[in-house]
Amino acid sequence: MFSKIKPYMGSYIRYTYAALAAMLTALIASAVPFFMVYRIIRPLIEGEKLSAGYFAIHIAIIFVCELVYSNLYVLGLKFSHISAYNTLKNLRISLQKKLERQPLGTIHDMGNGKIKKLFTDDIEQVELLLAHAIPEGIANLSMALIAIVCMFFADWRLALLSLCSLPLGLFAMGMMFKAGMAKMNDYYTAAAKMNATIIEYVNGMEVVKVFGRDGESYKRYENDIKSYRDFTLAWYKICWPWMALYSALIPCVALVMLPVGTLMIINGTATLADLVLVFCLTLSIGIPLLKALNFAGKFPQLNYKVDEIEKAMDNAPLKTNDHTFSGTSHAVRFNDVRFAYKEQEVLHGVDLELGEGTLTALVGESGSGKSTLAKLLVHYYDINGGTITLGGQDITDMSIEALNDQISYVSQEQFLFDTTLYDNILIGKPDATREEVLEAAEKAQCSEFLARLPKGIDTMAGDGGKQLSGGERQRISLARAILKNAPVIVLDEATAFIDPENEEKMNAAIGEIIKGKTVLVIAHRLQTIVNADKICVMKDGNIIAADTHEKLLQSCDEYKKLWHSSEERANWTIDNADTMSGNEVRV
Ligand SMILES: Nc1ncnc2c1ncn2[C@@H]1O[C@H](COP(=O)(O)OP(=O)(O)OP(=O)(O)O)[C@@H](O)[C@H]1O
Ligand SMILES: [Mg+2]
Repeated sequence: MFSKIKPYMGSYIRYTYAALAAMLTALIASAVPFFMVYRIIRPLIEGEKLSAGYFAIHIAIIFVCELVYSNLYVLGLKFSHISAYNTLKNLRISLQKKLERQPLGTIHDMGNGKIKKLFTDDIEQVELLLAHAIPEGIANLSMALIAIVCMFFADWRLALLSLCSLPLGLFAMGMMFKAGMAKMNDYYTAAAKMNATIIEYVNGMEVVKVFGRDGESYKRYENDIKSYRDFTLAWYKICWPWMALYSALIPCVALVMLPVGTLMIINGTATLADLVLVFCLTLSIGIPLLKALNFAGKFPQLNYKVDEIEKAMDNAPLKTNDHTFSGTSHAVRFNDVRFAYKEQEVLHGVDLELGEGTLTALVGESGSGKSTLAKLLVHYYDINGGTITLGGQDITDMSIEALNDQISYVSQEQFLFDTTLYDNILIGKPDATREEVLEAAEKAQCSEFLARLPKGIDTMAGDGGKQLSGGERQRISLARAILKNAPVIVLDEATAFIDPENEEKMNAAIGEIIKGKTVLVIAHRLQTIVNADKICVMKDGNIIAADTHEKLLQSCDEYKKLWHSSEERANWTIDNADTMSGNEVRV
């Protein structure tokens, strides 16, 4: 158990040892007063007269010991928490690094709820192990053992009598673990499910509000919280009687020893002084023993937690290594690429070449696999067959960071962090100056809406960028990519939410930034890509044609179909704009 967490503790393990030493010393100090009381009682029993000095010394020792106990125990807790929270930090950083290297599919499959639980609740539970269970548990157990040994030295028969109730208490505790463990898995499954459902429910609140509470999502929410309640109550129902029994039995170390010991004194087989000494020692056994055993009870839970955390870290990571980019150019080549999200294959052997410094457009009906292809180029997932190379170097043969440095990617679903818009753009190039960030924002046509915001570019983006419209989010993402200025640019519907007027400006800006770069543009509005060096038509996970606009119009029926529907949409936009404003709008 301890060995599993040890690698994450690093040099902070010495704080745990220090905590252990401080707590054990504190507990020994807490037992000394009982011995002092015995030293006062024994002469009185034997009819000796005690001097005031003798009393004073013993009372002073008691006082000092209590002081030592409280200070050292608190110091021990301080050390154990330093160790615990630094270990939690290491655990979270390690988890995040491993998670970053997992394919997106693995992360999506886990779900937000499970990931949140893993990063917060499960890891937080480890605190209990490091800050309390290990140092306090071991110190209390050692204290109880020391007192038991002393008891045997005083009178082994009375010592044995004191331990009489212990087997019963341990039996009750064992029964509780046995019963609890059997339900543990169900309990954690129910907790994890409830977590995931709550997060999904909150994320889908917009739909719930519109479609009411009759939806599937609310029903699932209700069911999952009820089943969590049922599992928890069932678990406690089984555990509580055993818990009550051992909590009552274990601290009662003097229960048998006192009456039988008294009988032994009457029979003359034991002395009152020995009985008093053993009784005083029992006072420092019961509570520490109960505490130690209670902490021991946490081990199965913690075992489960560390296992869960490690299992989440053990998923196969993306195929990558720590090589730098050593490609000979920035040409991209998809070679017979096959890919399935799960069982369903969505790309069936795609061959595609993005020539260095050229603009390639990818068009095709919804669901044909365009975004998937873009995501594979930025290595969100590992492919199931074929190769993807950048400048001749396989993208799996370089680090994620090396690949990221070469590619600016504006995805179809933009996500902004809940920080300022400035910081969101800065992600593209963390060492950029303020001027560079403002320039990128301007090029991405952000100036106009930034001027309307209360704090301009220093306005907070809101959770996931929710305080901005889709088009505004898109422009901030584009500014991020402009700032990054990577040699390869991938734009997935980068202007989809933008009105025709701004789109024209934006296309001009995009035209500016992609000069001389290797560019892949995915577009539904075909008018924006007519001048591309090459247009690839995707259908059902295959590239069925690749040529220039004019040639495709003559040779490819699918392209013709896409072009005509795109023209119809554009005309519809013009007609509407004309009717609404009377202005002439060109797309
Ligand atoms: N995360 C995912 N898990 C499982 N299947 C997915 C996932 N994302 C996409 N798909 C499926 O893969 C196929 C291709 O999706 P993709 O997003 O690449 O299409 P697209 O051409 O970009 O469509 P659109 O033009 O609507 O953006 C679709 O059938 C889609 O249902
Ligand atoms: Mg798409």
